[in-house]
Amino acid sequence: NGNNSRTKQNGSENLSRHLPDIIIIGVRKGGTRALLEMLRLHRSIAAAQSELHFFDSDVRYQQGLEWYTSQMPLSGPDQLTVEKTPAYFTSIDAPDRILRMNPSVRLLLIVRDPVDRVLSDYTQVFHNQLQKHKLTQPIEDLLLRDGGLNLSYKAVNRSVYYPHVQRWLRVFPRDSFHIVDGDALIRNPLTEMKRVERFLRLEPQISEENFYFNRTKGFYCLKEQGHERCLHESKGRPHPSVAPEILQKLCKYFREPNRKFFELVGRTFDWKG
Ligand code: A3P
Repeated sequence: NGNNSRTKQNGSENLSRHLPDIIIIGVRKGGTRALLEMLRLHRSIAAAQSELHFFDSDVRYQQGLEWYTSQMPLSGPDQLTVEKTPAYFTSIDAPDRILRMNPSVRLLLIVRDPVDRVLSDYTQVFHNQLQKHKLTQPIEDLLLRDGGLNLSYKAVNRSVYYPHVQRWLRVFPRDSFHIVDGDALIRNPLTEMKRVERFLRLEPQISEENFYFNRTKGFYCLKEQGHERCLHESKGRPHPSVAPEILQKLCKYFREPNRKFFELVGRTFDWKG
């Protein structure tokens, strides 16, 4: 348990819980867990382990900041606290509520090729349903309606990033955000994590030694004080195969929303389409 090892490192004195300095706001299936776990490699970071849904759920929000604080990890005086809940990105209420908590909070948004994100989202729902002994429709049935793309399919909808970014940028200045390239984080985690360290003004600590490529998993796994660990088996699952012409439709559909997203954030990504 990360919190316990932190306690040992710092001694148990001077530890307290405080509101997050950093929030990973999304996107769902963008690589939010990988980002959180990789950030935790840094000794100046204390991370809340579960998704708290504090700012996107009225019931949770009404429990108040005191409750929210009680859910945070113990941290030392030199540590920054981070929380991640991917649902914040698409929540109408989250930006204002987070601003009220701390206008200088630092926000991390990890994005991924919208087409891959659709497949990942489908796979997540498929497995959730399976656990409940329920079946999900085949992906192609969900993606298509009357021969065209089914634009009301949630997984497609959630890959249209720009309206959400627009909403966040009405509340926070652009420099409150750092955007992590989720596809690059998969291929080369160190480079992406160095950028995150710089944005957070953390002493550079995360190094090559912290990562190794696990051939069985097909992803990078983490090394911390000689201890190796991969992300949970639910991270990095195979996606269903989809007919090329349907993928083509998706690529075409996302082209314009992607362009709007690039314009808003002042950066382009190497996405299909
Ligand atoms: P897939 O399982 O569809 O491949 P989130 O944590 O936001 O749900 O994102 C899950 C995604 O994180 C995974 O989606 C996977 O592609 C990505 N990911 C990035 N780095 C990873 C890593 N080192 N190990 C496993 N998954 C990783």
